Amino acid sequence: MRSGNDLVLASDGPSQLGIGIPEDYYSPMTARLNVNIDHVATVRQARRAPEPSVVAAAMACEQAGAYGITIHLRGDRRHIQDLDLQVLRQSVATYLNVEMAATEEMLGIALHTKPDAVTLVAEKADEITTEGGLDVKANISIVRATVARIRQGGILASLFIDPDPLQIEVAREVGAQQVELCTAAYAETTLGARAIHGEGSVKASQELRRLRDGAALAKQYGLHVAAGHGLTYRNVGPVAAISEITEFNIGHNIVSRAIFVGLEGAVAEMRTAIRQGAICK
Ligand code: PXP
Repeated sequence: MRSGNDLVLASDGPSQLGIGIPEDYYSPMTARLNVNIDHVATVRQARRAPEPSVVAAAMACEQAGAYGITIHLRGDRRHIQDLDLQVLRQSVATYLNVEMAATEEMLGIALHTKPDAVTLVAEKADEITTEGGLDVKANISIVRATVARIRQGGILASLFIDPDPLQIEVAREVGAQQVELCTAAYAETTLGARAIHGEGSVKASQELRRLRDGAALAKQYGLHVAAGHGLTYRNVGPVAAISEITEFNIGHNIVSRAIFVGLEGAVAEMRTAIRQGAICK
């Protein structure tokens, strides 16, 4: 059980405590929150206008205590643009995680701009959002080679995968330092009142168990464990209670909430939701 004092310390992100604090100063407490700001760019791209600025959004998230910023540079450039990555690399003072497909083009961009972390994801041309985790087993050669080059570039290599023991095993085998467990299937079970009763509640529990077991296995393999996709203020708590998960990447729900309470308020609310979930460990 954590002490109240721990939780107070955990609520202070790097923007308040200063960069250079060892990473494990945070990890035994509340999981870190990286805010995915893709959908700030989605609004901007709807008009090809200068506003809203992704840099201003990143600064607001950092001010509100986000641990870092996450962006997804998609092959079709539907939201984040190459220039956004360059400018964010220069302006994000905390931690910049870039999600991308394992292609030569993306690898070249990553090695040139040097984010703090690269998360390799599966990408389909016509998908609305990322659909499930990367099949590392089926793409083992390309993923192994890409991970090696990311690491040689001094960048943390993370793989976005389903909480499947085989994928976790192969993630370790190809040299990834971190896995981000895909929470989409769990999130799906929590929509509306589905998770509260009957079959919905059984499915939600099954998906949570998969995440719990996956996180434990990944940690046992010495991997850092992150999680994300489809997480909301309402469903993040039980996932935040999984102590092996030390990082969250959350976007759509925070940006949606920001329309009503502003980005700083929305980030603060998500940090509170994560912290409250962690208290239930
Ligand atoms: N993690 C990964 C790997 C993603 O692809 C996404 C969506 O871009 C997220 C986290 C964030 O998902 P959401 O926007 O549903 O919070």
